[in-house]
Amino acid sequence: MTNHPDGKTMDCIAFSKYGSPDVLKKTSVSYPHGFDAQSNVVIKVHASAINPVDKALLNGDLKMVRPVAEFPHVISYDVSGVIAEADAGGSFEVGQAVFARLFGTADDGKKTPWYRGAMAEYCVANVANVVVKPSNLTFEEAASIPLVGMTALQALNAANLKQGDSVFISGGAGGVGTMAIQLAKHLFKAGLVVTTASAGEKADLCEALGADVVLDYKSKNFEEIYVEDKFDVCFDTTNESLSMANVVKEGGRIVSIAGMPTLEEIRRIGGTAWILKLFLKRREKRKEYKAAKKHSADWNYLFLSPSQADLTTLAELLDSGTIKPVLDGIWKFHSEDENAGWKGAFTRSFSGRAKGKCVVTFEQ
Ligand SMILES: NC(=O)c1ccc[n+]([C@@H]2O[C@H](COP(=O)([O-])OP(=O)(O)OC[C@H]3O[C@@H](n4cnc5c(N)ncnc54)[C@H](OP(=O)(O)O)[C@@H]3O)[C@@H](O)[C@H]2O)c1
Repeated sequence: MTNHPDGKTMDCIAFSKYGSPDVLKKTSVSYPHGFDAQSNVVIKVHASAINPVDKALLNGDLKMVRPVAEFPHVISYDVSGVIAEADAGGSFEVGQAVFARLFGTADDGKKTPWYRGAMAEYCVANVANVVVKPSNLTFEEAASIPLVGMTALQALNAANLKQGDSVFISGGAGGVGTMAIQLAKHLFKAGLVVTTASAGEKADLCEALGADVVLDYKSKNFEEIYVEDKFDVCFDTTNESLSMANVVKEGGRIVSIAGMPTLEEIRRIGGTAWILKLFLKRREKRKEYKAAKKHSADWNYLFLSPSQADLTTLAELLDSGTIKPVLDGIWKFHSEDENAGWKGAFTRSFSGRAKGKCVVTFEQ
């Protein structure tokens, strides 16, 4: 990372080598500079959210697909904040409140050269990934949305979920699950939404979000319950596609975002390394696809793609109160406390036990 011409720096949470969460440190890096000012903005970050993909990136699992361009690498890609430097293209104005998912590319496929994450006082975002923040949301709520909201929306669209359909969503209390339940019920108008969650407050949350049936996955086996009444659509957020093949209707669709991706989907998002062929199978070779086919159903793996249109749809749904953010908690960027500070947010999110999203606020 070259130094800013005026020596300006900013604080961030970053890692200088792949490893466990212990390699994450609060450090100082150069303030954004040298990016394409025509199509990028600088956002003064107010809040940033954590996702399982951050853990995968940190421990090196994505090295072959999305290698870190340069160390130290700022972590987290969900952000909300205020435009500090507008783009020369005129899409945004200084002072506008926005939210975004940072991608290495815009949705036109154009690469953003200044690619870092959002857990920093400032970040750079391609305008194609940025949308005005719904005014009824706090910055913390807005930061919780982009990755999980767009993933759920894209998955349910890919599954061709239609009004009146029955849908089974695994992992209802997770970041993606909480969005998927709300979208399935209130946007797609599914006739029946069934989900899995631990009993107690997680099950109660899923019901409040719109699930018609919540199965305690620790004591009940959905394969044994839905032997006759099968589902038009199954959305797999927990790597249970093989079991879902037994509860999907003939002609139904299973869409998975969990477990190993297919070679085709990795290629679609830009993974070009030849070595990927050794690790990843084509869709037709996958046992999940074969299991679904045996029941005359379809199976696909989906990776989130950049889409300003999808984030705009989510902003409208949030603005109208059709869907709501679900936060597990808010932690403080400016605190080093193991529990209340930024470290606590990563510990909680990476535990895989969160109820909705773990968000770090930059407010003092
Ligand atoms: N392909 C993509 O583009 C994409 C995008 C986003 C996410 N993902 C993947 O999708 C998965 C879910 O992401 P997320 O952000 O929703 O994760 P998350 O927020 O970390 O999920 C945590 C929640 O999942 C629940 N859970 C875990 N195992 C479960 C099971 N077998 N049945 C029911 N609930 C279960 C946990 O509840 P308990 O504590 O009760 O177990 C917890 O509430 C991750 O593997 C992530 O990597 C992929």
